[in-house]
Amino acid sequence: MNFTLRTMTELDLPAVAEIEAGVFTDWYRIYRREPEPLSERTVEALRYAISLDPDGNLVAVADDGAMVGFILARTWGKVGWFGTFGVPTQFQGLGIGTALVNRAVDYLEQKADIIGLETMPESGANIGLYTKLGFVATYPTHILELPLIREAERFSNPRVEETVVWETLGSSGLRRTLREMREISDSILSGLDYSGEVEAIHAHGFGRTLLSRGAGDRLDGFAILRSTSIRRENISGRAYIHALAVRPGADGPAVLDDLLRQVWASCVSLGLARVAAGLSGRYQSALLLLLERGFRVMRAGIRMVRLPVSEEVFSASDAIHLSRWAG
Ligand SMILES: CC(C)(COP(=O)(O)OP(=O)(O)OC[C@H]1O[C@@H](n2cnc3c(N)ncnc32)[C@H](O)[C@@H]1OP(=O)(O)O)[C@@H](O)C(=O)NCCC(=O)NCCS
Repeated sequence: MNFTLRTMTELDLPAVAEIEAGVFTDWYRIYRREPEPLSERTVEALRYAISLDPDGNLVAVADDGAMVGFILARTWGKVGWFGTFGVPTQFQGLGIGTALVNRAVDYLEQKADIIGLETMPESGANIGLYTKLGFVATYPTHILELPLIREAERFSNPRVEETVVWETLGSSGLRRTLREMREISDSILSGLDYSGEVEAIHAHGFGRTLLSRGAGDRLDGFAILRSTSIRRENISGRAYIHALAVRPGADGPAVLDDLLRQVWASCVSLGLARVAAGLSGRYQSALLLLLERGFRVMRAGIRMVRLPVSEEVFSASDAIHLSRWAG
């Protein structure tokens, strides 16, 4: 079948939402025996997702004009990843996925030193596809959930009333905070920078950034919380910690507790009952800290990176750093 690739535009978003829901509904039915159709992503959520790297998001279009695949890609400084990504079930196995990944990688290579993705461990086909395209598995990503109501005693705390509201920081406060956030993330993984994500999540009204300051008003940690659902029908009542990082050398458990109290207060004020997060096994000592604070491991994903890549991504770190390379 003939197809061409082009950059995704605003007009493509409804079709991308429809294809994504269809292809993952089929996938969940086969691999996870979940019979219910997956609700579509909202156009607003897709607009937010593609806003970080407008040129990195692609669609595949057949000669008759039908959309036969899509891929989203984004960069966090020198770290780039792609996903969500899909080809309608009836068009799979024809090379469309390979073409989309190759083109997304071409884009990411211009900006990032680390290029990766996360996929489902059940999917041998995906692991095979990515391996053929030069990716190798690193650590599993633990997908975690914190039931907020059960942990009320641990996290409810009057101090969270003092939570800094991002919108009140002012332009010099914002610049300083983003610089400090960069300092923290870069010391955890070279070149990692969440500035674009922070700007996008606030600009599109999908969540907020929470800050933990220590002695001398130094930023010791931050959390980017997505509190608006990305799917149309969402009954999960779940928020999502997009990224959370603690400055290496700071009092990790104390900063983590401060951030989680703020997460707790933000979610409860919005009527959300659970919070989800992802933790790469690279940050293995942080997993225990999270379990001690009431998080539960729901499942795992596989994080893969494209070779050649700095050895850093394969070496364990005692940093506290949560994020998923999945959108
Ligand atoms: C993943 C997906 C986008 C791939 O798209 P696609 O158009 O089917 O992919 P392609 O036809 O380009 O390539 C499939 C490759 O995987 C290989 N493959 C399939 N099953 C495999 C297996 N079990 N082991 C090894 N390789 C396998 C095929 O041989 C093929 O490689 P080849 O072209 O060198 O022969 C598509 O299958 C899809 O939408 N899946 C459901 C959603 C999903 O999983 N998205 C990705 C989430 S990370």
